[in-house]
Amino acid sequence: MNATQEQLKVKLQKALNAAFGADYVNVDPMLVPASNPKFGDYQANVALVLAKQLGQQPRAIAQQIVDKLDVSDICKLPEVAGPGFINLKLKTEYLEAQLQVIQADPRLGVPPTQNPKRVIVDYPSPNIAKEMHVGHLRPAVIGDCLSRIIEFIGHDVQRISHVGDWGTPFGMLIAYLEEAYPEALTSTETLNLGDLSSFYRQAKKRFDADANFQEAARQAVVKLQAGDEKTLLAWKIVCQLSSRAYQVIYNLLGIAPFIERGESFYNALLPEVVEELDKKELLVENQGAKCVFLEGFTNREGEPLPLIVQKSDGGYNYAATDLAAIRYRVEVDKVQRVIYPVGAEQTNHFAQIFQVGRKAGWITDDVEFVHTPFGLVLGDDGQKLKTRSGEAVRLEDLLDGAIAYARADIEKRIQQEGREETQEFIHNVAQVIGISAVKYADLSQNRTSSYIFSYDKMLALKGNTAPYMLYAYVRTQGISREGHIEFEKLGADAQIVLREDTELTLAKHLLQLDEVMGEIEKDLLPNRLCEYLYQLSDKFNKFYENCPVLKAEEPVRTSRLVLCDLTARTLKLGLSLLGIKVLERM
Ligand code: ARG
Repeated sequence: MNATQEQLKVKLQKALNAAFGADYVNVDPMLVPASNPKFGDYQANVALVLAKQLGQQPRAIAQQIVDKLDVSDICKLPEVAGPGFINLKLKTEYLEAQLQVIQADPRLGVPPTQNPKRVIVDYPSPNIAKEMHVGHLRPAVIGDCLSRIIEFIGHDVQRISHVGDWGTPFGMLIAYLEEAYPEALTSTETLNLGDLSSFYRQAKKRFDADANFQEAARQAVVKLQAGDEKTLLAWKIVCQLSSRAYQVIYNLLGIAPFIERGESFYNALLPEVVEELDKKELLVENQGAKCVFLEGFTNREGEPLPLIVQKSDGGYNYAATDLAAIRYRVEVDKVQRVIYPVGAEQTNHFAQIFQVGRKAGWITDDVEFVHTPFGLVLGDDGQKLKTRSGEAVRLEDLLDGAIAYARADIEKRIQQEGREETQEFIHNVAQVIGISAVKYADLSQNRTSSYIFSYDKMLALKGNTAPYMLYAYVRTQGISREGHIEFEKLGADAQIVLREDTELTLAKHLLQLDEVMGEIEKDLLPNRLCEYLYQLSDKFNKFYENCPVLKAEEPVRTSRLVLCDLTARTLKLGLSLLGIKVLERM
């Protein structure tokens, strides 16, 4: 609910009180945005609900409320319509004044939260004993976006990557490092990082082909877990190798810096976790394994399902590590909200560990742990995106493909338009458009759905795409160039006059950013921001087609320039929260 709605709600409750007595002052006036802009901006539906209780016709009730309602500072004369709706239309002067306020506000009308919390966003959290592939895209992009938005709202955000840096997958890599690069274990020089992808492939080849090597890999895991120094060193080198190669891609994607605190970090804490669960009488021995029985999870026979915390061989698993992380985040990090942008296939895992976290008393009512699941990236065939040979597509190849596509497109446009541009310009535009297109295509979907990855779609200049949005921004900047106008110098006191419908529609939309941010803070759906920005571009384009800006007479000219500037600033801010950079020209 935005500030305007808040005020209207209070006024409606006052009117309810005046019309029907003090019992009605806390009744929800059921104020919602109007179903059709023809009827106004908001409508209050409370009269329909009260009909029974008051034993009167809804229209009559609505009329009595309206008779007592004073919204003259915000709205035109309220109207009773249909079966008993109260329609409210914002006054132009009110909108003008509100716009004036956000024009002077670097935060564009989104006040910092009154209730700042300590928040951890657990991302991108890949398993690093693998080469980076398409499956690593969504956690990085969604986690980065949610972190940016929550931080902007004013919370204290820690980005923590719970990397899978421990366990069996490392055996193969350690064994291969020891076999193929023994010098890495003795010299202080680091391996050539360009080797990483071939390193993985070679290791896998050896593993698949040679039973002795497989045994060496298993031994490596045992030695690693026993804390053997040489093995630990090899493990560290493999982790560094991965981390650094991953970082190159995160840089390319423009993912903000995060802390790496992987599974290995919690190793030493695992026995304590088991001990505490035991003390709290939550642990049950089941076929030698230590488990916690869960409510609401049953196997096919309908028997309660246990969550294994320590295996019968004494080893710990993914769940145990995550329990240690929950405990650490609450007790040491003193966190109030933890967000896990992780694929939907781990929904049960999170429901289970959160349940155990609550049973153990780590997750109390004043801390919120949320899994924000997402769907898959699919190929044209509706299956997980794969290469022709059936492997997961490498993330680097996926991004390079988008950049190459964007490059071909800009080169074609330059030629058609007879423009002269430097190589540097072309390179930069292709890079920004290519990467933004991939990110935007991901974020603009409802997070929980899977989507089909298509360069044609995501790089189209029309539709709900990054290029379209970037182009809208470029358009605003073109106005400032054409008119030799420095938007920053328009002044916070520049007068605003709204006359045309397209101006009013744009103005109302500009005033809704705060509300959108509030929604995203709650439901953690970045596509709401994409949708808002898409609508903004659309409303701006309609305004721009209908209303001359530079050729208008004062005071309309300045007022329209302010609308252009506000649109530009909102687009720039909104895109930056999606992790997308704008271009001045493209
Ligand atoms: N490494 C895991 C994977 O790639 C994701 C980890 C998510 N974070 C967590 N705390 N479990 O599947």
